[in-house]
Amino acid sequence: MTTIRAVRTQVGIVGAGPAGLTLSLLLAREGIDSVILESRSRDYIEQRVRAGLLEQNTVELMHELGVGERLAREGLDHRGIYLRHQGETLHIEITELTGRGITIYGQQEVVKDLVAANLERAVEIHFEVADVALDDPAGASPQISYTHEGAERELTCDFIAGCDGFHGISRASIPAGLITEHEFIYPFSWLGILAEASPSTDELIYAWHDNGFALYTMRSSSVSRLYLQVPNDTPLEEWPDDRIWEELQVRLASEGWSVSEGPIFEKSVTPMRSFVCDPMRYGNLFLAGDAAHIVPPTGAKGLNLAVNDVRLLSAALGDWYRTGDAGGLDSYSERALRRVWRAQDFSNYMTQLLHQLGGGEYERQLQLARLEYLARSTAVATSLAENYAGLPATADF
Ligand code: PHB
Repeated sequence: MTTIRAVRTQVGIVGAGPAGLTLSLLLAREGIDSVILESRSRDYIEQRVRAGLLEQNTVELMHELGVGERLAREGLDHRGIYLRHQGETLHIEITELTGRGITIYGQQEVVKDLVAANLERAVEIHFEVADVALDDPAGASPQISYTHEGAERELTCDFIAGCDGFHGISRASIPAGLITEHEFIYPFSWLGILAEASPSTDELIYAWHDNGFALYTMRSSSVSRLYLQVPNDTPLEEWPDDRIWEELQVRLASEGWSVSEGPIFEKSVTPMRSFVCDPMRYGNLFLAGDAAHIVPPTGAKGLNLAVNDVRLLSAALGDWYRTGDAGGLDSYSERALRRVWRAQDFSNYMTQLLHQLGGGEYERQLQLARLEYLARSTAVATSLAENYAGLPATADF
């Protein structure tokens, strides 16, 4: 006979990504207990390479939570981005146009800092759990059953936060018909590399090219991160290091300048998807981050949206526990989705502006006209800058 170990907490959090790990810290600040369940190992989530651009909203929240010390030391503050096409470079002066800045700091570094802070503050994180199932998430006392270290366990909660990503069980636990899913899949992917090479650029470069999009970003003064638009399902074997550098040099080319090369130590392909689940709630189950929405990485919004979701959710839970007022919980989805759709639009705009979409010469000329418009109009450049930097965080956005 297996023993079932039953535990109680106020908020059961499924998933130890940026959403779940930030939520638990926000809740702890409100005096609310939570337990985090994660199917992967600590090592896996701390090494998993993702994007790395933080909006000022996100950086400020990390400082508020007391987890910004290493971010302040190692994060790279940027005041703008470059858009390059046909050898011409346009600098979008984000800080000058919006008064707001952006910071480059790898997602896995954010995750490391968040895990350390959670453990320091005695938040329970159970790594490598299996067989996770949500029982009666719409009921008054939802439970999460799972196995951990060989034992069957049951976590009884007031609320469940589904922070377990696009493929997680949280959204899948909502009966079909109670949510609407909006989806758009792009006919290309990004091949991303990390290389030991000092970046030969001070700001990120987003490049439009007839061969396809390329992005030059970085992780430190000695590590470069670069991306290439590639066909969906392109086998990595078709992309030996030499071919990657060659293609990056072509797509990012500018007179008298080149991409600095070095040993590649990480290489992976990411498909591009836009996705929104509406509403982000089922009874006492609240979805946050990639469990509820996905954006293509061109707008660098994924992590920032996840953090915004849990900022709104934690405040709503705080109100409920303090005063019994469910108003914040009832409007959570609507408020979170406002920023989600703003980011959907912006990420789609950046993607359509800069990638080869397969639509022929008419589409190509439209893209070039839009790039030209950005160079000529401060209003249009400001719009891009404002979206890129992220509109200020408010109670309803
Ligand atoms: C990154 O640094 O990995 C990065 C930056 C900006 C993007 C996407 C990825 O739009």
